[in-house]
Parts: sequence; structure tokens; C-alpha cells
Amino acid sequence: MSTNTPVGTAARPLRVAVIGSGPAGVYAADILTKSEAVKSGELTVSIDLFDRYPAPYGLIRYGVAPDHPRIKGIVNALHKVLDRGDIRFFGNVDYGTDLSIDDLRTHYDAVIFATGAIKDADLNIPGIELEGSYGGADFVSWYDGHPDVSREWPLEAKEIAVIGNGNVALDVARMLSKHADDLLVSEIPDNVYAGLKSSPVTDVHVFGRRGPAQVKFTPLELRELSHSKDVDIILYAEDFEFDAESDRQIQSNNQTKTMVGTLTNWIAEQPEDLSELTASRRLHLHFLHSPVEVYDGAEAPGRVAGIKFERTELDGTGNARGTGEFVDYPVQAVYRAIGYFGSALPEVEFDHSKGVVPNDGGRVLDAAGTHVPGIYATGWIKRGPVGLIGHTKGDALETVTYLLEDRENLPQAATPAPEAIVELLAGRGVEYTSWEGWLALDEHERALGEKATAAGGSHGVTVQRERIKVVPREDMVEISRGAAVEV
Ligand SMILES: Cc1cc2nc3c(=O)[nH]c(=O)nc-3n(C[C@H](O)[C@H](O)[C@H](O)COP(=O)(O)OP(=O)(O)OC[C@H]3O[C@@H](n4cnc5c(N)ncnc54)[C@H](O)[C@@H]3O)c2cc1C
Ligand SMILES: NC(=O)c1ccc[n+]([C@@H]2O[C@H](COP(=O)([O-])OP(=O)(O)OC[C@H]3O[C@@H](n4cnc5c(N)ncnc54)[C@H](OP(=O)(O)O)[C@@H]3O)[C@@H](O)[C@H]2O)c1
Repeated sequence: MSTNTPVGTAARPLRVAVIGSGPAGVYAADILTKSEAVKSGELTVSIDLFDRYPAPYGLIRYGVAPDHPRIKGIVNALHKVLDRGDIRFFGNVDYGTDLSIDDLRTHYDAVIFATGAIKDADLNIPGIELEGSYGGADFVSWYDGHPDVSREWPLEAKEIAVIGNGNVALDVARMLSKHADDLLVSEIPDNVYAGLKSSPVTDVHVFGRRGPAQVKFTPLELRELSHSKDVDIILYAEDFEFDAESDRQIQSNNQTKTMVGTLTNWIAEQPEDLSELTASRRLHLHFLHSPVEVYDGAEAPGRVAGIKFERTELDGTGNARGTGEFVDYPVQAVYRAIGYFGSALPEVEFDHSKGVVPNDGGRVLDAAGTHVPGIYATGWIKRGPVGLIGHTKGDALETVTYLLEDRENLPQAATPAPEAIVELLAGRGVEYTSWEGWLALDEHERALGEKATAAGGSHGVTVQRERIKVVPREDMVEISRGAAVEV
């Protein structure tokens, strides 16, 4: 190919690598292909989408709880984007191990990092490292069948504390308290069913450090708690503190109003004598509790025996302050669900305090705060681990807009031919998976579901199973590699 051929033409398309096939990466690729410049024929693009997992969709596959079927609509939309055939998918390719920044610069004119977040934020309180104290993100990875985590999860506790008042805390609490048989309609793998089935849990306590008007979870997710069979929800009157700022928040935000309404209805309907509740499991929602210490006991040194909180009160600004009163809860396991945190990417600047790649509207910055030409970020790695799937669309639009604005000044790839990257990966022995490979794995997982349904259900429970997830990475790769990437 002539080096004089202008970049962005049919003869020499603008080559873009997107690292991460979660919603942010797929939206960025889609928005770029549908941009006005491309639609008008002024620009031709050629996009490769990479993911370290053999399957696409990021946290939609390895974060969203298995009992959330309403997410299906979003998956269908993302599927349609990747099924069009104008964006190539390379799974099982890790940026940092299989590809370096030099490789990307050699093969692409621009790179968009959309690597999201998969780890728990740290909670620095004494005892957090005790046996029986877990990160919510790790538990989520386990119940969602993440290929790189242990197949076993220790579910031995009768009483459990979940710290945090976000949607992840509710997911974790719901998954811990729900009966395993009620999850069999979902795609949970057999090892997850077996683990949850053996759980002796009776009480799951969720603790927020502020009040009911300051929760971060959302109305649908809150109401969903009450749909779990044989699980009673318990609230405590002393936690229902509303100051003037709470009233303002309730009046100015419909979601807050709905949630406070739901919570106050639940507590009003609750019997005064809690022994009248009949479910075999209980989910307790506590507010105005700030975690202070996780501790062990003399009977089992090194193992969680309880958790201490300081009671808090609202300070008039929407925040809470300590009251100096401390309360203990005997629990045998603690899950912190206080937020996710992004991971640094090799050879890319990283803001260790925020867990993001420093950027200006998606243009990645170096240590001096200058835009690194050709390097962009989008999604959770761009703005931190907050927001719903839909929010990554706006992110992607902003990032792609800047990329298009910069397109005359992008550093040009030395080896832009689409087959060159395939040869590089193959030459390195990288067992990459393709979109066709994902279709094969998708079909395989559905076939597993159909087989279980035809056999009358799973584990002696009559149930329709749409899909059963394949967990081991090597199995995912083997099933996917039945098909080849088209170059
Ligand atoms: C537990 C949980 C449940 C959630 N449930 C919902 C829900 O029900 N509804 C909703 O709207 N939102 C939900 N969200 C929020 C939603 O998941 C996020 O908004 C969204 O996934 C963020 O998208 P992203 O593409 O930035 O990151 P991610 O979805 O995390 O995708 C990042 C991708 O990058 C890949 N990657 C990372 N590093 C590398 C590397 N070095 N090389 C190659 N690839 C790499 C990862 O494998 C991953 O596939 C949930 C979040 C969590 C944590
Ligand atoms: N079904 C869904 O739609 C769904 C499911 C899961 C996740 N998500 C989304 O994914 C994003 C991330 O969710 P998330 O739950 O991880 O984060 P989040 O919404 O930011 O919630 C984090 C929670 O942890 C608390 N927290 C933080 N530090 C703490 C500390 N040191 N001690 C005690 N509590 C602490 C926060 O309290 P403060 O508010 O006081 O800081 C907050 O209640 C959110 O946007 C969420 O809506 C959506």
C-alpha cells in the first residue's frame, strides 16, 4: 500500500483499535462507524475490538446479576452491532500481555481504551483482611461464572454483613439471601448453584453509612428485594432519620422520593413483633451505620466473628457524621460493596487516587497533562465506576467526537493492513476468539439450557433454562475456536 494514500479513504481506512468489549467499547465502535463523516463517505474506518475474555460484553456478562433478564434488550442491541460484520472482534487477547502499546501504535492510527473496572475499592478498616471478609466484586465474579476466579466460594456463614448502599450491595445481598432453586431459571453455572444451595445463611444485613434518603441504589433494584421467595425484609425505626436536606432531596428527586416511599411503606407494614415473620431467611436493611472494625473471636482466631459500626447522624449537608455510639453485629462473613475500582494499564498514565486513565473528555493525558496523540478512553476507565450501561453511550459519543476532531493529526500506523494484526497474534500463539466463535459459544450455552429443559429441569427442579454459562476459559476458547476470524 502506498504510504501516500490518505488515511481515512477506502484504499487506506482509518484503523482504530478498541480495547475492551464491554458496553463502552461496543458503543464507541458503533458510534464511530455511524458517524456523519463515515455516513457521508468522507471517512472510511476499520475497527478491531479486543477483549481479554473469550466472550464479549464485559460486566454485562461478568457483573450484571443472573436474575436480571431485563438486560436482555441491551444485549440484543449490542449483538446486532457486532453481528453487522463491520467491526472485528478478537477475544482472549489481553492488552499488556498479548499486545503492547507499540503493537497497537504500529497497527492502528488510534486506540480507544474501554477497559472498565472489575476490582473492589479498598476499605481500610482493621480486620478487613480476616478470613470470611470478601470483596463484593469477587463474589459477583464468582456467581457470574468469571473464567479466572476459583470455582469454589466459601458459603458457610449463617449471618452476613454487606457494607454499602449501592446497587452492587443489593445484588450481593439478594444473591446471598435468595434460595438457589429460585435462581435456576437464570444462566447460573452448576458450581454456583451447588455453592448457593449449600449455604446455611439465615440473616443478611445491609449497612448504609448515611440515611434512607441518601442511598445510591435505585427504585427497581430496591423493590426487587421483596420479590425473593421465603425472604423477609426487616427495617429499623431508629434508622429513619430525615433532616431538612433529606426533605429537599426527597422533593427534588423522584427516584429518592420513590425509594423513601417504598422503605417507609415496608416499615409501616412490618409487624411490631418480628417473631411473627415466617420466612426462613431475613434481609435486614440498616442505615446510619459506618463500619469501624471487622473482628475475629477466641474460638476461631483469624476468622470473622463480628463487625463494629459507629452510629451516624445526618449533618445537614447530605453527609453523615459519627455519634460516638458503637454497635456490634455477630456475623461470620463480611462483604464490602463500596464501589469498584479501575486497574492501571501498562504503558498508559493512571490516576491511582481515582482509578481512571487521566483524560480530557476521553483524550488520554500523559503525566504532564498533555494529550497523548491517538490514545483515547471511554466508559468506566474514563470516568470511574459509576453509572448504568446506558450512560456509557454518552461517554462513547464524547470520546469519538474528539477522535474525529483529531483525525487529521493522528500518528499514522506503520502496518495498517488488517491481516497484519491477525498474523502478529497467530505468530505469538495467541488463541484469539472471533465473533463467529462467540456465536458458537452462545449457541452452545443455549443448547446446554435446552438440554436441561428437555430433561425436565436441573437438580430435581422443574424449570425452563434458556442458557447455562460455560465457565472455564479453556472450554470457552475451545468451543469458540471452532470458527475462524475472517480477514
Ligand atoms: C455488579 C454489577 C452489576 C451491574 N448491573 C447493572 C445492571 O443491571 N444494569 C445496568 O444498566 N448497569 C449495571 N451495571 C453497570 C454496568 O455494568 C457498567 O455501567 C458498564 O458495564 C461499564 O461499561 P464499560 O464498558 O466501561 O466496562 P466493562 O463492562 O467493565 O467492560 C470492560 C471490558 O474491558 C475488558 N478489558 C479490561 N482490561 C483489558 C485488557 N487489558 N485487555 C483487553 N481487554 C480488557 C474487560 O474484559 C471487559 O470486557 C452493573 C455493574 C456492576 C459492577
Ligand atoms: N441493577 C442495576 O442497575 C445495577 C446493579 C449494580 C450496579 N449498578 C451500577 O453500577 C455502579 C456502581 O455501583 P456500586 O454499588 O458499586 O457503587 P455506588 O453506587 O457508588 O455505591 C457505593 C456504596 O458504598 C458506600 N461506601 C463507599 N465507601 C464507603 C465506606 N468507606 N464505608 C461505608 N460505605 C461506603 C457508598 O456510600 P456513600 O453514598 O455514603 O458514599 C454507597 O452507598 C452504580 O452506578 C450502580 O447503579 C447498577
